[in-house]
Amino acid sequence: MREEIEKLIAEIGGLKCRTLKEVEEARVRFLGKKGEVTKLFDEFRAMDKEAKKEFGRALNELKNSAMAKIEELKGSVADDSSSDGPKADLTMPGDPFELGSRHPVSIVRQEIVDIFRKFGYDVAEGPEIEDDYHVFEALNFPQNHPARDMQDTFFISAGHPNPLLLRTHTSSVQVRAMETMKLPIRVICPGRVFRNEAISARAHCIFHQVEGLYIDEGVTFADLKQAILLFAREMFGPETEIRMRPSYFPFTEPSAEVDVSCNICHGKGCNICKGTGWLEILGCGMVDPNVLEASGIDSTKYSGFAFGMGLERIAMLKWRVNDLRHYFENDMRFLKEFNTAVEV
Ligand code: PHE
Repeated sequence: MREEIEKLIAEIGGLKCRTLKEVEEARVRFLGKKGEVTKLFDEFRAMDKEAKKEFGRALNELKNSAMAKIEELKGSVADDSSSDGPKADLTMPGDPFELGSRHPVSIVRQEIVDIFRKFGYDVAEGPEIEDDYHVFEALNFPQNHPARDMQDTFFISAGHPNPLLLRTHTSSVQVRAMETMKLPIRVICPGRVFRNEAISARAHCIFHQVEGLYIDEGVTFADLKQAILLFAREMFGPETEIRMRPSYFPFTEPSAEVDVSCNICHGKGCNICKGTGWLEILGCGMVDPNVLEASGIDSTKYSGFAFGMGLERIAMLKWRVNDLRHYFENDMRFLKEFNTAVEV
């Protein structure tokens, strides 16, 4: 036994390998299940106590040094393990890094923000998880207004007197602006909003809005109309016309919905504008005095207007996309269409 141990120690000490494959072969030969070192251990197990005392330590040393040698060999050949196979072809073209592009909704948001910045508006942001007060109560929604119904709103803590919920519009940010900013106020509020709606080509439970608010002394409906007209011409082209239709929102009085002239058929009627020549883009109105008062603004001295629009809808009109779901699925084939739209 002793001689065999010494022979193996010498043999293992002098081992040389050129590839990982050779190292693995050496490992199997000495340390594998039927390897030479393993075999000695099997013999050792059958020995009597005296003999075990004599060889135990030497055998362990053999095993440890064999393991250490295998590790050492592995380390020394690892770097050129490919020396066996073909060398890399340095003349091959590299893998190009693909440039990302901005999401179409981000492109539209930036355009709208840039236009209103030019008009002197600041950008305000607020929390997506809001309370009932900022989304409804302060905006003059009567207690039993249908929009508070579980149908439309994702409530987080229903049953609480001022429950937490996912904001259904960014008008909540306008309330926060009225509470904190000095008058006059001119802000736009871009952000993500949530409504409990069935997902279809025209609706989604998550979408994006930009809402705007202007409060000063003597602001009139004519100012609102002019702001929207200028915005529409910046956004959709200088020929664009707008029309306002009476509407209802709890927080504005009077309220209107705004259509822009269809820039595809120029008013003649096409399938995008469904033959009407007009496309609806936003809701707006004069801020209800109750809303001003709720945020501590003197409605006898100040007046203002507000407006809000859905970004996916505007992006759909701009790029004639017929299914809103494309904006959320992040299919690379769709997103790549906007590669050229990257602004530097
Ligand atoms: N908050 C309204 C909505 O989400 C949009 C709107 C904003 C309408 C401001 C009028 C004035 O539908």
